[in-house]
Amino acid sequence: MYKNIRAAVVGSINMDIILNMEKVPDVGENLLGTNYGYVCGGKGANQATGLARLGAKTKMIGKVADDTNGRKLIENLQKNGIDSSCVRTDGTQTGLAAIIIDGEGRNRIVVYESANSEIDPKDAADCIDDSLDLLLVQFETNEDVVVECVNKAIAQGITTVIDCGPAKNFNLERMQGVEIISPNENETEALSGISPADEASVLEASKIIMKRIKAKYVVLKLGSRGCSVWDGENLKIIPTYKSNVVDTTAAGDCFTAALALEYKKCGDIYTACDMGNKAGSIAVSRMGAESSMPTVDDLLNFKEAE
Ligand code: ATP
Ligand code: RIB
Repeated sequence: MYKNIRAAVVGSINMDIILNMEKVPDVGENLLGTNYGYVCGGKGANQATGLARLGAKTKMIGKVADDTNGRKLIENLQKNGIDSSCVRTDGTQTGLAAIIIDGEGRNRIVVYESANSEIDPKDAADCIDDSLDLLLVQFETNEDVVVECVNKAIAQGITTVIDCGPAKNFNLERMQGVEIISPNENETEALSGISPADEASVLEASKIIMKRIKAKYVVLKLGSRGCSVWDGENLKIIPTYKSNVVDTTAAGDCFTAALALEYKKCGDIYTACDMGNKAGSIAVSRMGAESSMPTVDDLLNFKEAE
């Protein structure tokens, strides 16, 4: 479906330790968890996996350390068919995320950025050239890396999509003219000062973000409500599909990857958002981060939960 698209992702590569428990302990409380496991994650690597699973020719730009986790993560990128030639291995420690998932599938995440915060902006930007059709970035690396890569991609005419995770008040004014900027609810609040709780606040927040970065589209990810599109004139809310929620981790990464590819393929933001919703609703029905990413067949045979 997307195999003619040549994409790159600049961003984080983490080992995720997932801790499942019915209830998150209060301060001083000692509870038994149900199970735990290590999975490959990081917003950047998840989005790269999302693109590659959907068939795009994908390159990852980032950094790990030359340690056990770093080696496993690179091997995993390669297993997913991702070009890892722009993943440097001279970080001091590979990124790690501790993810707590409660009985309702809700997550709480602590990220140790480590090598992800040591990416060299110029080195990363040097990996971007006009052979690419699409660039995805997130905010789980340092600001200069994001800014340098986005501005280079814009200058080269590469379609650029920004996923604003994790929540921080990033200096959006340093990048002007991206195609799509897509924060989730917390990220929207961090960037606009407004929690997108209802249609009026979705509109107000979208306008503020649009004014700051001058994107073509502001697409808010609204969890079980789906997503919204603001193009500077019209606001549209696009509901998602019913899903049996197990773990929401990486739903946003999955949404952004599918959104970006479908947008690059067809140029219609609403069709792209619908594809993002399908992918996101599949992701929340699966445990883990990169393991949640659908394939083209999953999307083609998609059925909404009862
Ligand atoms: P993450 O947990 O990865 O941080 P996020 O907070 O960035 O996710 P969300 O807004 O929670 O992103 O989810 C991304 C997309 O996934 C939504 O826009 C929607 O399409 C889909 N989605 C999320 N939650 C649900 C749900 N409960 N049911 C169906 N679809 C969902
Ligand atoms: O978006 C989910 C990701 O956030 C996890 O895989 C974790 O590594 C953190 O970066």
